[in-house]
Amino acid sequence: MNEQEALSAVKEALKPQRYEHTLRVTETAEQLCHVYGGNLQKIRLASILHDYAKYRSASEMRNTVKEEADLPDQLLDFGDELLHSFVGAFYVKKELGIADKDVLQMIASHTTGREQMSLEEEIVFLADYIEPGRTFPGAAEARKASKVSLEAGCLSALSQTITFLVSKRISVYPDTFAAYNYYIMKRKDDFFNGK
Ligand SMILES: [Fe+2]
Ligand SMILES: [Fe+2]
Repeated sequence: MNEQEALSAVKEALKPQRYEHTLRVTETAEQLCHVYGGNLQKIRLASILHDYAKYRSASEMRNTVKEEADLPDQLLDFGDELLHSFVGAFYVKKELGIADKDVLQMIASHTTGREQMSLEEEIVFLADYIEPGRTFPGAAEARKASKVSLEAGCLSALSQTITFLVSKRISVYPDTFAAYNYYIMKRKDDFFNGK
């Protein structure tokens, strides 16, 4: 599937404002790729497809989690907001024929993050958080941090996501905590190395 075909597929699947968000994520991810590297073609394709399942019903996605052994059952214990990323990667593979594991992984982790994300995953995760349409105060902070390093940007997004969820008494998916710890410890290592 080329980019044009992917764009047509998501245009059909998404509401206009979500499609516009998708274009801004793709543009932002491309800018981050120019600064930090990574495979631009894969980053762009994953960005275009990252919210493919955004408007699928929660019940459909929950059923898919129950049926598919590859999707973690643990997802069923958490909020519906997380489903579209993990299950979206599965639909993109099954319905659109995308087989590239790197692209599928970028889609799967774009909401929760995870520890040891690839460079490309970090870029899509961060682009989704800081694209210019994101106007909440935390986006500005993460945007600033993303100019320091990709890791600093991800750490900012993860810590703010956790803080937000805790303030609302919403459960936090374990991958998000693991990712937060990973970047905090990495930062400490950098500190000890005098960076
Ligand atoms: Fe999303
Ligand atoms: Fe998104």
